[in-house]
Amino acid sequence: ARTAAVIPAAGRGVRLGPGAPKALRALSGTPMLIHAVRALAASRAVSLVVVVAPPDGAAEVRSLLDAYALPERTDFLVVPGGQTRQESVKLGLDVLPSGHDIVLVHDAARPLVPVDTVDAVIEAVRDGAPAVVPALPLADTVKQVEPARAPGEPEPVVATPERALLRAVQTPQGFDRATLVRAHETVTGEVTDDAGMVEQLGLTVVAVPGHEEAFKVTRPLDLVLAEAVLARRRL
Ligand code: C5P
Repeated sequence: ARTAAVIPAAGRGVRLGPGAPKALRALSGTPMLIHAVRALAASRAVSLVVVVAPPDGAAEVRSLLDAYALPERTDFLVVPGGQTRQESVKLGLDVLPSGHDIVLVHDAARPLVPVDTVDAVIEAVRDGAPAVVPALPLADTVKQVEPARAPGEPEPVVATPERALLRAVQTPQGFDRATLVRAHETVTGEVTDDAGMVEQLGLTVVAVPGHEEAFKVTRPLDLVLAEAVLARRRL
């Protein structure tokens, strides 16, 4: 089965501070999105990459893809995104040609995911899982709180889930295409990842080992870390 990757890259990146849309900001001189595209296209299984651009930035993203060297065996499509990540992913799924039975969804904000992680996710879908997430154990203990009634007020802790059973999930998340399309057609309400929508269909999502370098670039310190990782790779 052929694999396509959808890369939602339409977010503003407000938490990163003022500037261009997050995916277009440079990491060691190259836009974050280009790093992410290369990371996915590095997998020999991935024959198509769909980039979901900022709503007014599709032309700019298209010229970026044309300006950087990318694998010849991979096809690239660019579509404008939406107001939420979920909407952006749906707009990407809508343009997938037939023949790609496995779909990866990968945040542009995770530019450094190693190809071995990408391949492990694809492999688990090939082995029959309808949805696969790369996941890591947590370093921190997690508390569930009652949200504060007013900003700055202390928040009462209501539960402490057993840390050993918790995982932080990353992308690319991998899917049987028909399952993901059905999830996007039927699940409504807030979700923070695509696999969560498949869970809501009542299907079992499986986790495979994630990777430290697949971290999400969210805050300014993450840019420092990402450039340090790139510098170490070039040694
Ligand atoms: O904001 P956050 O880091 O959770 O975004 C995760 C990914 O979803 C990013 O790659 C971002 O560009 C993308 N996104 C999108 N469309 C939106 C919001 C976020 O494609 N409307």
